[in-house]
Amino acid sequence: MLGAMLTDPYARKFSYLRLSITEMCNFSCRYCLPEGYRPKLSESEPELDLYEIENLFHGVAAAGFQKVRITGGEPTLRADLFEIISAASETPGIGIRALSTNGWNLKSIAARLRTAGLTHLNVSVDSLDRERFKSLSGRDSLPLVLAGIEEALSLGFAGVKVNAVLHKETAVQELDRFLELIKTRPLSVRFIELMRTGERGEYRDRHFLSAGELKLQLLQNGWMPLARGETSGPAMEFSHPEFVGRIGLIAPHAEGFCESCNRLRVTSRGRLKLCLFGEKDQSLRDLLRSKEDALGISDRMGELLRAKPVSHFLKEGRVGAARNFSVMGG
Ligand code: 5AD
Ligand code: SF4
Repeated sequence: MLGAMLTDPYARKFSYLRLSITEMCNFSCRYCLPEGYRPKLSESEPELDLYEIENLFHGVAAAGFQKVRITGGEPTLRADLFEIISAASETPGIGIRALSTNGWNLKSIAARLRTAGLTHLNVSVDSLDRERFKSLSGRDSLPLVLAGIEEALSLGFAGVKVNAVLHKETAVQELDRFLELIKTRPLSVRFIELMRTGERGEYRDRHFLSAGELKLQLLQNGWMPLARGETSGPAMEFSHPEFVGRIGLIAPHAEGFCESCNRLRVTSRGRLKLCLFGEKDQSLRDLLRSKEDALGISDRMGELLRAKPVSHFLKEGRVGAARNFSVMGG
């Protein structure tokens, strides 16, 4: 039987798990891992294995979770990715199975993802200009990533989204290019405000653009805000009668962003994070030894949620323990 949904002292309900399955990444995005991924030598805790992940899914489903997103690092670098997705698909209650990827091998794996039961796909594309894409991500992969997106669109996923991190120097040109892309394609493009991380604070300050500025532009051009769905999270979404696709804005620096928080994060090493920008995490590994033990996740999370902060402290310049997003999946 499915339990009641977990809540926190601010009456927020939690039904969405973001699970990072690896810290590894093969891109070197300037705002995240400009030097590329380097394993942390001091790290001794292993990644969760497939069996622990299956138990985790079982435990969170019993706690009322309905949506799981697999993130990283770059989650497609893990050899048992398809088994992990199948495990989520086979867990009763987890109706939404999503994956976030940089898209480097999407064209070749999209069909297998679909077969494993993946329902939703997010692909990071920060620029639709090939040179700029290369300079931002360290890889000349734009054509391949776009081919992967076309492939995904042909396979009947319930949702395909493209995530682009906003940079003030190029936002206007990129908006035009993305509009062209979604004119005829059922894609949702989401512009994400650049967030401060421990390692890349100064980069963020140099390139930050508030999503509010883009919002004004969209409203002036006939884009209309949509009502929020239950599991859709804190994005503001817009539609336009002349476009098949949609635009979303993710503005963690805007007032009220945290009010609609519905997600909890678990790192690839099995540590629960109450907030992307939280200072602390708490290992769940002791509860992942069996499906039976995993039924304790509901109580453990419920207890920890009593201390979930009302909001992040980005305004105060506090970024928590987030060195960069490859560690806990964005
Ligand atoms: N600010 C905003 N988004 C970020 N991501 C990574 N680092 C940041 C940051 N500092 C997100 C982007 C990227 C994905 C892998 O993680 O959406 O595409
Ligand atoms: Fe880029 Fe994501 Fe890899 Fe970071 S983890 S370098 S944002 S693809």
